[in-house]
Amino acid sequence: MSQRNKLISKFFGLVIGASLMMSGTASADNGMAELKKLLQGQIELMKPELQDKVKALSTDTKMSLMAILAMHSRYSDKATLRQVMLEVLADFQSMTMGIMTDSVEMTADSARRLANHRIPVGGLLPYMGMENISDDRLAVLEGFNDSVEGNANKLADAAEAGDMGTAASLLGQITSGCVGCHAVFRSLPGASDLLK
Ligand code: HEC
Repeated sequence: MSQRNKLISKFFGLVIGASLMMSGTASADNGMAELKKLLQGQIELMKPELQDKVKALSTDTKMSLMAILAMHSRYSDKATLRQVMLEVLADFQSMTMGIMTDSVEMTADSARRLANHRIPVGGLLPYMGMENISDDRLAVLEGFNDSVEGNANKLADAAEAGDMGTAASLLGQITSGCVGCHAVFRSLPGASDLLK
């Protein structure tokens, strides 16, 4: 399968998965239209220079952005990515606390909240820096998203199945996803340009 077809089938898998109650093709079409509208709405909030860069992205990149959006159901019209990230860190910490105290509910609820974290106003791209808005740079985004969100959901399942050992072992994979994404898309938080 070509990279593009793989993305498309993955994407439809997500959409269909997200709307199990409806029947196949029609729900995929609806889901697709919804996601396009969502992405379009985010683009409209961007300044023209960012809009131009986003519009120039390949269909593959846009599909993977929509695949990420499809994994979330909470969209904020005011939260910044930094605010969302601090909320994500709080969920990460309470998830760890749940594991350390053998609390199935604390672990699973925190992990699912983490996996379905808020999407900041305008989506992720406005916070990534202009230099990162290219097909090459954004190609790694979905992988980091999967390793955080995917493993957080697995961790919740493991906790609910009473398997805290597996839950604990997934912490490392989630952390690698956080650290990997930061290495590509973030600089040192709070670094001062007034130091020599
Ligand atoms: C999709 C990429 C991505 C993933 C995955 C990711 N982050 Fe972030 N994170 C960022 C970016 C980009 C910033 C910088 C945002 C800014 O400064 O506007 C950031 C910033 C942060 C900050 C600093 C906030 C501040 O006040 O400056 C924390 C803390 C953080 N992330 C925690 C986490 C944790 C915990 C995880 C994993 C559970 C995680 N992040 C996963 C992209 C990511």
